[in-house]
Amino acid sequence: MASPSYDLGQVRAEIPILQTHVPLNNCSQAPQCLRTRAAAETYLASWNEAGMDWDTWIAETEAARGEFAALISVDPDDVAVATSVSQATASVASGLDYAGDRRRVVASGAEFPTVGHVWLAQERFGAQVEWVPVRDGRVELGDYEDAIDERTLIVSACRGYYQTGFKQDIGEIARIAHDAGALLYVDAYQTLGSEPFDAPASGADFVASGNLKFLMGIPGIAFLWVRPGLADGLRPAVTGWFGREDPYAFDATRLDWGKGARRLDLGTPPILEAYVARAGMRWLRELGLEAIGAWTSLLGQRCVDGALDRGLHVLGPTDSDRKAPTTAIICEQSHEVELALRSVNVIASARGPVVRLAPHFYNSVDDVDRALDALAAAVRKVA
Ligand SMILES: Cc1ncc(COP(=O)(O)O)c(C=O)c1O
Repeated sequence: MASPSYDLGQVRAEIPILQTHVPLNNCSQAPQCLRTRAAAETYLASWNEAGMDWDTWIAETEAARGEFAALISVDPDDVAVATSVSQATASVASGLDYAGDRRRVVASGAEFPTVGHVWLAQERFGAQVEWVPVRDGRVELGDYEDAIDERTLIVSACRGYYQTGFKQDIGEIARIAHDAGALLYVDAYQTLGSEPFDAPASGADFVASGNLKFLMGIPGIAFLWVRPGLADGLRPAVTGWFGREDPYAFDATRLDWGKGARRLDLGTPPILEAYVARAGMRWLRELGLEAIGAWTSLLGQRCVDGALDRGLHVLGPTDSDRKAPTTAIICEQSHEVELALRSVNVIASARGPVVRLAPHFYNSVDDVDRALDALAAAVRKVA
């Protein structure tokens, strides 16, 4: 039986829910593991015992910023700490100028709705949003070529499409955007943690992600990388005291700007979430993103092949090179199928017309096979 290059048994021993369930829902929420729980408890103990320890708590936020930076091969000063991808996107969008001829935002229907909504909200400031179509669960580069021109200010593209797992070629989209003089904003939430990702080499100008999916964290924290040099031109209207040059200057009458991406920091950082986020990201880096990528790709392909073998229908790519670990199986009553799976302790995630299976580094081949058997039975039951 296939196995990853790390010790799968040791990894699985750190995730208690695996004793009773088959979690395959990383596209929605990662499972709790011993180290993320311990990290949360460290904060709770500090709060309980010291009452208040801002120095340690802020240092922990900085450590989380550093861990995210290491994960995507960038400098921590080029990373902002956010509370969600919605907020990170809103901060970037509020720093752009939509008054000139170059005022178009090109985004695809594969964006997570929140990202599309933030861009649409800029229309009252002059932005014009152009939509690239989604066809059969994917977005074609030719459609980006058609949509992007000298009027495009920024292109907004997700690396992994939340519904089908379709992985976009960020390098090619960056080339098309930059040839037209436009910027590229990338939402990497559905892939970060499941594959190696070098942000500067990707060609993106901005990369955002939250932590609760393949980064093994919880809601309430997200990170945003800004290409060096670019942040200095941004004066985001969505701002706060941690975005100042010296957050502790306490001068309400003066608006200055922090160094690099730190100017996109907002209010009091998400401290508890930073503890958990750092522990999750650190584990992934310890195991190695290359090794995790190889294993999740194998499991992703097994989801597709196993689904097709069982007569199920897959939406989007069927080749693991073109997809995140997530596989989307078409079911008419996806929510009912999710509930039927839950009743046999298989955790999957319904989205619109599909149920998604999203394995990660701790899943086994047996997990995938068991989930597929249960899914095929659930689809027959609710049909
Ligand atoms: C690709 C992607 N982007 C953004 C989000 C939501 O981001 P947030 O809730 O942090 O604003 C999700 C949530 O599922 C997502 O899958």
